[in-house]
Amino acid sequence: MSTSTASPSTNSPKPIHVDIAGKAIDLPVVVGSENEHAIDISHLRSATGYITLDDGFGNTGSCSSAITYIDGEAGILRYRGIPIEQLAEHSTFTETALLLMYGELPTKEKLNKFRGLLIQHEMLHEGLRQMFDGFPASGHPMAILSAMINAVSCYHPDVMQMEDDATFKSAAARLMSKVRTIAAAAYKTSIGHPIVYPRPELPYCANFLHMMYSLPNQPYEPDPDIVRALDLILILHADHEQNCSTSTVRMVGSSGANLFASCAAGVCALWGPLHGGANAAVISMLKYIIDNKIDLKDYIAKVKDKDSHIRLMGFGHRVYKNYDPRAKILKGQADKVLKKLGVAHDPMLELAQRLEEVALSDSYFVDRHLYPNVDFYSGIIMRALGIPVEMFTVMFSIGRMPGWIAHWKEQHDDANSRIFRPRQVYTGHTLRDYVPMDNR
Ligand code: ACO
Repeated sequence: MSTSTASPSTNSPKPIHVDIAGKAIDLPVVVGSENEHAIDISHLRSATGYITLDDGFGNTGSCSSAITYIDGEAGILRYRGIPIEQLAEHSTFTETALLLMYGELPTKEKLNKFRGLLIQHEMLHEGLRQMFDGFPASGHPMAILSAMINAVSCYHPDVMQMEDDATFKSAAARLMSKVRTIAAAAYKTSIGHPIVYPRPELPYCANFLHMMYSLPNQPYEPDPDIVRALDLILILHADHEQNCSTSTVRMVGSSGANLFASCAAGVCALWGPLHGGANAAVISMLKYIIDNKIDLKDYIAKVKDKDSHIRLMGFGHRVYKNYDPRAKILKGQADKVLKKLGVAHDPMLELAQRLEEVALSDSYFVDRHLYPNVDFYSGIIMRALGIPVEMFTVMFSIGRMPGWIAHWKEQHDDANSRIFRPRQVYTGHTLRDYVPMDNR
């Protein structure tokens, strides 16, 4: 297996010669370390006056990146070259986070040092803690999470400046650690329970479960299998190259905005039901089908009818045209976790499995290469762990944080990076005069 992280080469392949309206240009071809080919159009407009138009950026590379590799056709996902299946089996979320941010698996010493930083930064400033009183109990945890991430930077202005690796590492640990404390505090506030302080002796996920489920008069001792299941979910969500939220983090970061502002924007982008919000939408869909005793074939027929504007949530992906490898791992885990929790039959899991079967034998889904994505089974596991549906996308945010941080760092460290500023094709009115109010 190749372990090279060679930067894209512009030397070997021949440039592509294009002639647009009599103006010729040779467009360099960039080749990635997995032999992906891209046409570099950075001089297209200055040479020809033309820009490209790519709705939804389906054909546009926004950057070169050495963090995550996906082959959507083959269903391959690797972090820094390491297959997701190996990380799922052997790694922990904290170790995977360091791998993503620094490019290598950490030594024991580096891992322990980073764990120390996570402990050091796990508490919230009293001022931040009091901010939870200002949110209505019905406030969506994603809104609270995004607001609080920005608020952290108000209390720790040093995170605005990244002078060296030590300040970056400390800011990264602060963000990863506090986001977990904030998420649990948002949940506790929403159910009218007192906020629970973290316990420094607990590892990352066990500490989160403790803050979620302990009460001052009733400690919660997390079961190691449940902790492992949560750790696995976070590993599987840790990065996914240039998806909507990560591109948002890079977009905001490209202006020079600090790590916290950029990741708060990532939370907002993740919130949408076509992205991270899909895990909650899957549960709503399954619940709707069960509660209304809807026949699966009828539901699938509705999904296929474009006028219904209903999608099979947790199905389909911009990049994967094969089974999402994360969904494959989670599908196997769902059974295990439910058994461990003593759930012999979970109607939601059974329904999801039947839905998958029906969909994957239907030419609508087969022809369009629509397979279950990571959100199809993750919600079922999180629900079994007792995580409320409104918190699902928050869990995704906690998991994705190392990926966002890694991408922010990669861009920040790149001396050649420029502000993101796409162009457009204007389709509005041509020149016209202002009409005074009385003449309208
Ligand atoms: N159910 C029914 N039809 C679908 C679905 C679906 N879930 N997904 C795509 N299609 C159909 C489209 O209607 C379209 O059909 P057409 O060619 O006849 O017009 C075709 O498949 C291609 O779909 P697009 O919308 O062009 O695909 P795109 O890459 O833009 O969208 C997306 C990808 C947003 C993930 C889409 O598949 C979807 O809406 N899925 C459901 C929501 C979901 O699960 N999102 C989570 C994605 S994973 C993540 O963000 C972590």
